[in-house]
Amino acid sequence: MTKKAELHYDGKVYELPVITGTENENAIDISRLRADTGLITLDKGFKNTGSTQSSITFLNGEEGILRYRGYSIEDLAENASFLEVAFLLIYGNLPSKLELDFFVEDITQHSLVHEDVKSILDGFPSKAHPMGVLSSLVSSLTAFYPKSLDPNRSKEEVNGTIIRAIAKLPTLAAWSYKNRMRQPIMYPKNELSYTANFMHMMFGLPTTEKKVSPVVSKAIDKLLILHADHEQNCSASTVRIVGSSHASLYASVSAGIAALWGPLHGGANQAVIEMLEKIKNDGGNVDKYVEKAKDKKDSFRLMGFGHRVYKNFDPRATIIKKAADDVLNELGINDPVLDIAKKLENVALNDDYFKYRGLYPNVDFYSGIIYRALGIPTDMFTVMFALGRLPGWIAQWKEMRENKEPIGRPRQVYTGAKEREYVPINNR
Ligand code: ACO
Repeated sequence: MTKKAELHYDGKVYELPVITGTENENAIDISRLRADTGLITLDKGFKNTGSTQSSITFLNGEEGILRYRGYSIEDLAENASFLEVAFLLIYGNLPSKLELDFFVEDITQHSLVHEDVKSILDGFPSKAHPMGVLSSLVSSLTAFYPKSLDPNRSKEEVNGTIIRAIAKLPTLAAWSYKNRMRQPIMYPKNELSYTANFMHMMFGLPTTEKKVSPVVSKAIDKLLILHADHEQNCSASTVRIVGSSHASLYASVSAGIAALWGPLHGGANQAVIEMLEKIKNDGGNVDKYVEKAKDKKDSFRLMGFGHRVYKNFDPRATIIKKAADDVLNELGINDPVLDIAKKLENVALNDDYFKYRGLYPNVDFYSGIIYRALGIPTDMFTVMFALGRLPGWIAQWKEMRENKEPIGRPRQVYTGAKEREYVPINNR
């Protein structure tokens, strides 16, 4: 029997259908609310609002569950490669060996970008944040591939646009770093794997696969997999909403990169390391910063703590914490910032303020420690996140297009001035 909710308003009773998802989550369908009652809902930050029905990622924040297309994040992080997960997210199923080979080959063959991208890159000052550069360069792909401007083209052409996005993002990301360092750019090497090729374009290393330690290579793959999708988060919602106006995939992803940049979202990984450094340089007094975070008059927050959805633990953080330990052991690095991180985690987890509000370390609390150990500069951390999140953005964009979703356009409750007459400037 279909469940229904009742709305009692202005002496009338309205029945609203309740929709149930495959994991038994219920949602009140309010699509006829305004037409039938004249009301809209108000939900700042969309804390209670489902913007779509999606079959990509399942997330249960109370129980700390994250699954891509039904597969647990723990299983995928342990056993799959990043491009395998990208295929899964975008096309819905794990690839056969042959499908994966084709997919990887296709991506490898498209990793080069147009030479003219270099002149755009040259126009940026070296101090430009790589996230801003990356967002611009991704948007500029529309100029080099004008057919991508029309997302209604054939399935094959849209797929070509998707492949190019995955293939070129590591090149553009590494080039945004090279611009930052004022170093010559490195061209992609097709004989290297996706991850090794990215490391080569960043650092000129490794020249052969053998030089990448399996522990390091696995840790990078894990990081990318853990970041690959997270249902309707700020950047994925941005990608969907931009794409809902039939803007191109590249324009939508460029907007997603901008949304990811902020410190309350993907930018938190950069902010975490900066915060840990600050605590270390201030004598390592963790308690002082925990108190600051609790003080409502102080704007300081513990970066890397808290999540809109996870209120018990972030399953990605559990995996990444272990990977951080493995990488530091493998590379023989003793990072004092890691000690501060562990102390901070310990103090916060035992403090009533954090316990009461369900504030736990999120994925970004530990990811920066791995990036640092690999020699990736702090302002490139969020770029690494973007590399990982790209398949998710593509899957969300593709699903939204295939389901022919309407343009995203929320309403508002207006609180401004009532109608008033224009006053000429000399009479004001
Ligand atoms: N430090 C101290 N207090 C916090 C923190 C924090 N990191 N996060 C939330 N709180 C407090 C808030 O002050 C609020 O307290 P109150 O109820 O007394 O007013 C309560 O916890 C709820 O916080 P909200 O901001 O309402 O929660 P929301 O779901 O809107 O925000 C967010 C979630 C943005 C992640 C927040 O926890 C935060 O700012 N964390 C730090 C930044 C961060 O790590 N972001 C990365 C998120 S993961 C990702 O995007 C990949």
